[in-house]
Amino acid sequence: MRLWGGRFAGESDERMAAFTRSVDVDSEIALDDIDGSVAHVRGLRRAGLVSADDEARLLAGLQELRAEVEAGTLTWDPALEDVHLNLEAALAERIGPVAGRLHTGRSRNDQVATDLRLWLRRSTRAIDTALLAMEDALVGLAERHPRAALPGTTHIQPAQPVLLAHHLLAYVEMLERDRGRFADAASRADRSPLGSGAIAGAGYPLDRDATAQDLGFAGPTANSMDATSDRDFVVESIAAAALAMVHLSRLAEEVTWWSNPRFGFVRLADAFSTGSSMMPNKKNPDPAELVRGRTGRVIGELAATLTVLKGLPLAYQRDLQEDKPALFDALATLRASLGVMAGLVASLDVDEQRMRAAAGEGHTTATAVADAIVRRGVPFRTAHHVVGRLVAEAERRATSLDALPDAAFVGALGADPDPAATALALEPGIGAELRVAAGIDAALASCDVVGGTAPGRVAIALAAARERIDRELATALDG
Ligand code: ARG
Repeated sequence: MRLWGGRFAGESDERMAAFTRSVDVDSEIALDDIDGSVAHVRGLRRAGLVSADDEARLLAGLQELRAEVEAGTLTWDPALEDVHLNLEAALAERIGPVAGRLHTGRSRNDQVATDLRLWLRRSTRAIDTALLAMEDALVGLAERHPRAALPGTTHIQPAQPVLLAHHLLAYVEMLERDRGRFADAASRADRSPLGSGAIAGAGYPLDRDATAQDLGFAGPTANSMDATSDRDFVVESIAAAALAMVHLSRLAEEVTWWSNPRFGFVRLADAFSTGSSMMPNKKNPDPAELVRGRTGRVIGELAATLTVLKGLPLAYQRDLQEDKPALFDALATLRASLGVMAGLVASLDVDEQRMRAAAGEGHTTATAVADAIVRRGVPFRTAHHVVGRLVAEAERRATSLDALPDAAFVGALGADPDPAATALALEPGIGAELRVAAGIDAALASCDVVGGTAPGRVAIALAAARERIDRELATALDG
């Protein structure tokens, strides 16, 4: 029964068998295992290790298995431990003893390492498309509200007004880096371990370059001991997933605040919020909260995988089997989170008026006024003091900077000990000029640098993002 059973007399203890089996998890890589087996059979034929007839029978059997896996009709036998032994046994049932030639020059150690890299390649493609779709949703929301202003905060306190589009594009930057990290991890995973055997390398003249090419890898791995025990690509991919989740979690956190009626910046679509079983008034941002919560799990999976690896001597150790639950869950969680956040963002209802009203609260244009004073030849430190006085004045009058009378601006300049400020106070029209500078639109327009929130700059960034995303989404959907 057991494919490795030759030297064993007694049965496995059921507790041991249940404890070590992995087929409930690793059936996820069944199609990749079949792809690897097909390439291996071709390699065995090239090396003259199987006849043309046997090759044909093996390939036909594997083809049959693939169809059954795809149709979901192959039943997994828990007694057969893992996906590899299940598939080999299923092959033997279908084509007979010739199936016993498949495992020539191969171990489950190079086999599973190959399968996992193949799985990662196709999963990374799906993640990349999901990241792009999330960018698309953010850019779409920005395009619908190109002039909406938001109170930018630092230390969670009102700082400077920013465009909502600028804020959303910040997340697009993060997601672009996430795409880069996944691509980078995939590029290092792009080597074929097949032919490494259990530890020392296959005992047959297998053409590892040809097999690697067959599987679409850039080439074979260089060291059989490393190849059978390396899971760096798993760590790198979970790390990329964890960081992408952290980005989504930050956005999720903002959405929960923005949708609080006290802020009232956005309303969640009914389709992306939930109610309370007790409080009839509630409309809760549960999907955002769960994205934030599940980020903790993915971070844990990164720590768990690093911890599994840290004590392992060369080469394969069974501990490595623990890589799969973490990897599969991390990528599935990220993919689902990207899907739900893209839907939530795309359906957000933005209240531009509430946002704009809040954008000016807390004298957020003070820096813009100081900058306007500096542009008239006053040292920045002096301007900072002058505007500090204006802010105090506005607080006393319980009003905003741009609602102060022109005379208040002139008075604040004139009261400063710096002669540059008192000279500027005498300039005709300076009060009105600074009051205009204290408006939200003037403040936004003043941050006119590459990467700044000036509407012209944001429009350029938004158009560039739109052009890139459309182009990349088109090729992602083609491919
Ligand atoms: N289920 C195993 C894993 O995921 C497959 C490799 C098992 N190799 C072995 N020599 N028992 O790591």
